[in-house]
Amino acid sequence: MSAHNCNSRQSWKVSASIVAKRTSNPIRAIVDHIKVKPNVHKSVISLALGDPTLFGNFKIHQSCTDAIIKQLNSFQSNGYPPSTGYQHARQAVADKFTLPEAPVTAQDIILASGCSGALDMCIAVLCNEGDNILLPRPGFSLYQTCADSKGVEVRYYDLLPENNWEMDLKQLESLIDDRTATVVMNNPSNPCGSVFSKQHLLDFLAVCERNHLPVIADEIYCDLVFSGNTFYPLASLTQTVPVLAVGGLAKKYLVPGWRLGWIFIHDRNDIFAAEVRDGLNSLSQLILGPNSLIQAALRDILHNTEDSFYDDTRVQLEANAKLSTEILSRVPGLRVIVPQGAMYVMIGIDVAQFKDIPNDIVFTEKLLGEESVMCLPGSVFKCPNFIRIVFTAPPEVLEDAYNRMAEFCVRHHI
Ligand SMILES: Cc1ncc(COP(=O)(O)O)c(C=O)c1O
Repeated sequence: MSAHNCNSRQSWKVSASIVAKRTSNPIRAIVDHIKVKPNVHKSVISLALGDPTLFGNFKIHQSCTDAIIKQLNSFQSNGYPPSTGYQHARQAVADKFTLPEAPVTAQDIILASGCSGALDMCIAVLCNEGDNILLPRPGFSLYQTCADSKGVEVRYYDLLPENNWEMDLKQLESLIDDRTATVVMNNPSNPCGSVFSKQHLLDFLAVCERNHLPVIADEIYCDLVFSGNTFYPLASLTQTVPVLAVGGLAKKYLVPGWRLGWIFIHDRNDIFAAEVRDGLNSLSQLILGPNSLIQAALRDILHNTEDSFYDDTRVQLEANAKLSTEILSRVPGLRVIVPQGAMYVMIGIDVAQFKDIPNDIVFTEKLLGEESVMCLPGSVFKCPNFIRIVFTAPPEVLEDAYNRMAEFCVRHHI
């Protein structure tokens, strides 16, 4: 044993691992530094969290609750499922989502602990330490957290607000080199609320094709799109580019706390067959999948939920998006990029129009301190001088929050 090790055993000095130290949530790094307290004279309205259950206005479908109760009372689902998920649960996901243009069977599905767990497995299976990964900017911060924790270099490709947040494909392609392991794309987008057109997705796939770059497609907001927009699953538009698509129950079924996500392995040319499928199977053994009750209820949840439930959710979200756009685009100093789907809107802050607001972080701090309205600064998504608003609150709460924001902006305007 080395002298160092001998000494290290003489007292209680227990360090956190390198992996733990390089794992951090970029949101916390910024939000934890906000020391401002809400104005005690005004009720706090949080438009910061992408959790549709917060206000109680988005109700889950009865099929979900019935399905869980049925499984609970059956005593059939209390044991360990296989690490990739019960066969019948994977089959239920395949039956629900298979498409003629993007066929999947139960063998192509891996269940995970939320879409977060699915993303972590996809990044882990494709990337080695020292590789690089292309991530959207602005984008969901977990991608960076997963990459950093594995020692994978992050390279950001830009989403362009002036083009409805489409990917800057030229810049994206310029980032690719021999160590680029994969690219993550997110459609519909958190934080942008954008929905990509079919042509844009085809152009993106052409870049991936040219560069033999496999894709991780984060489609957790699939189908949550507003009038005039269509959601195209990325894998349905390619016969050649291998795609790991991730999704789950969190948003479309309004149950983020149930932690059930999935990976679709879209691999029509057996590019993932040699290693990646086995790799995903191995990685699934770390956690042993999402909990058995929700898995067992999955067929009922996916197949007994009536179409009107999805329509109601979409209609409610679209009305909130419209309200947000209408009120906030009249506010001086703000620029609304009209959302096309999901539950988010990004709003540009024209700092030149404000006398004492130099950036998005100060904007959100002062807004909280003066008006008790919370939203996230765009900096947490690597997009300074924007703020992100989650518009899942009931309309009257949104109106109250937006009126306060309007007064705030007028007060600070030059
Ligand atoms: C784009 C995106 N991907 C993945 C997730 C994670 O989903 P889950 O709650 O199922 O882990 C979220 C959650 O907000 C998200 O916005």
